[in-house]
Amino acid sequence: MNCKVCLKEIEHAEFEGYHPKCLKRLFGSPRVVPFLDFDKNQFETQMIQKFSRRMSISGIQEKLSVRLEGKKIVPTDLGGTYILKPAPSKYPHICENEHVTMRIAALLGIETAECGLVSFNDGELAYITKRFDRDGETKIPQEDMAQILEKQQNQVGEQYKYEGSYEQVAKAILNATGKPGVVLRFYERLIFNYLIANGDYHLKNISLQHMEADGKYRQLTPLYNSVNTRIHILNESRDLALDDLFEDGTAFDFMEFALRIGAPKKAVEPIFKKIKTHKTDIENLINASYLTAEMKMKYLNELGGRYARLFERF
Ligand SMILES: Nc1ncnc2c1ncn2[C@@H]1O[C@H](COP(=O)(O)OP(=O)(O)O)[C@@H](O)[C@H]1O
Ligand SMILES: [Mg+2]
Ligand SMILES: [Zn+2]
Repeated sequence: MNCKVCLKEIEHAEFEGYHPKCLKRLFGSPRVVPFLDFDKNQFETQMIQKFSRRMSISGIQEKLSVRLEGKKIVPTDLGGTYILKPAPSKYPHICENEHVTMRIAALLGIETAECGLVSFNDGELAYITKRFDRDGETKIPQEDMAQILEKQQNQVGEQYKYEGSYEQVAKAILNATGKPGVVLRFYERLIFNYLIANGDYHLKNISLQHMEADGKYRQLTPLYNSVNTRIHILNESRDLALDDLFEDGTAFDFMEFALRIGAPKKAVEPIFKKIKTHKTDIENLINASYLTAEMKMKYLNELGGRYARLFERF
């Protein structure tokens, strides 16, 4: 059995799907019980109504703010330290997808939200992530790119989160942080999301955090909400959520984009090299994941396609 936090094998049967050290890393103690005492149906019919009203985290998927009460994970409307995201019925196993995708990001050295899988009491898995916008009781200032670019919610609902280009995002990041290094980290995440076939890397899935005394943001938040959308949406029309800069999706396209956002070639090349050398490790992670066999195959196919497009001319 593989660990539902790190996806590496567990040799000791008594650990029921988690390395103690992985539980400690995610929950602060190896004794926290990663099994919920309610089921998916109760989550949908009771918990969401009761606890979600005051939740400051929004998004598409229904989610619940939770905290630790002793060894137990319990829903809460105030003081949540984790976010619990079960799969919507439209997208079965998207939790397992998000989890393995975040592991892949971490493997590539991208700073990633702490996360894992926990079980409802009917056995279904849910994605859980530790909030990175809290430092004890204090809220860490954080804004997403829709806020920073002042895109407003309008009649077309959530469409505003697609209204912008990655070039605009890069420039806004430079402006808001004053740091070319942060732009480079964004660039790396953009290629990553392309590689793992995330067609939903939109303005609300890119955020900055930590305000410095001079009013500039310090850094990107850890990566969150990266999933392989192709597994769930068969005829997705675009490879990336914003603009169409990367028609062929080759390394050449991304190199040209690097030029436009002022990222130097010698800073960008190691990113490609890292991705290139980790292909087998990424495939191993997908095989070690909790996705169904069919979904693993789809994931591997999409990944293979992206590798080919990125690297075949290099
Ligand atoms: N680990 C986290 N800590 C703090 N904020 C988070 C975390 N994960 C997500 N968020 C915030 O919550 C919002 C919704 O979460 P997300 O995972 O993107 O869900 P959805 O699938 O509904 O888009 C994000 O846009 C982000 O602002
Ligand atoms: Mg999101
Ligand atoms: Zn582990």
